[in-house]
Amino acid sequence: MKRIGVLTSGGDTPGMNSAIRAVFKEGVARGHTVMGIYHGFRGLIEGRVEQLRHENVENIMHKGGTVLRTARSAEFMTDEGLKKAINVARAYSLDAIIIIGGDGSYRGAKVLFEHGINTIGIPGTIDNDMGYTDFTIGFDTAVNTLTTEIYKIRDTMRAHDRVGVIEVMGRSCGDIALWAGVAGGADIILVPEYPMPWDEAARRLQDNKLRGKLTSIVMIAEGAGKAEDFAQYVRTHTNVEIKAIVPGYIQRGGNPSAFDRVLASRLGQRAVELVHENKCGRAVGIHRNRIIDVPLDESIALADEFDKKLYDFNNDVLSRF
Ligand code: F6P
Repeated sequence: MKRIGVLTSGGDTPGMNSAIRAVFKEGVARGHTVMGIYHGFRGLIEGRVEQLRHENVENIMHKGGTVLRTARSAEFMTDEGLKKAINVARAYSLDAIIIIGGDGSYRGAKVLFEHGINTIGIPGTIDNDMGYTDFTIGFDTAVNTLTTEIYKIRDTMRAHDRVGVIEVMGRSCGDIALWAGVAGGADIILVPEYPMPWDEAARRLQDNKLRGKLTSIVMIAEGAGKAEDFAQYVRTHTNVEIKAIVPGYIQRGGNPSAFDRVLASRLGQRAVELVHENKCGRAVGIHRNRIIDVPLDESIALADEFDKKLYDFNNDVLSRF
């Protein structure tokens, strides 16, 4: 019987709760004790550790955010902070810690593992920027939320013959912009992976207007620039009327999609299985609809692959013919 800690770290994502629930249930089913660590690595440092019980995971599967709360901890990055975290993990006799988060959280998981604390990573970030897994928990929900929003924005842009440029999250990854853009019928998608010069994007909008297409939607990934800056550029160089829209945190909250709930459940189960099998220092993911696990080192090192073909199809075909 083991004591398994579980924490959520970095930006929250819809589906984190489904993963926590799966970890708890699989852990208990295998006879282990599951300890919730509140507020991510910061909570680990501060000893905010409590045994999870059924009531903690009851009725949480469909809720956004994370019942364990989350944080971005600067202290954990210091030697002193790391030492404190290790001491707390030992004081609570944690045999392993399952860490649900993005690449920053994985780096924390890796450092802990190198210092003798068993860790497993579950990919939880809306950004979908982790190369070893086809999908991260929360991405699908964020894309669905934005797709709904785009059609609302399109209605009002169309009523005024305006262009809307929508800035979406993703840090240095353009996946959210790409998928929400394709699903929302965006005319131009701007991503950091393949920067389209703004003069070309502005020319495309001007051309649209000349051929009678008065309403266009531009999706801009935050890594490719700010919507307001792009709008200003277009106003300066064309006679297109354009509005900047930043949906912000609405794309990170809300009920997880069915896909994210199922993905999170599968990943949570596999994470506990790995602990049970004494295979730590690994990250779980999904590839070709199979749950996989790879060493944490590898999960961090693998560069994310951007779907250039889909990007070209949208910008050069779907939006032009
Ligand atoms: O990594 C998830 C994410 O939502 C990014 O897309 C975004 O850049 C960032 O977190 C925002 O971070 P914060 O919650 O600290 O504002």
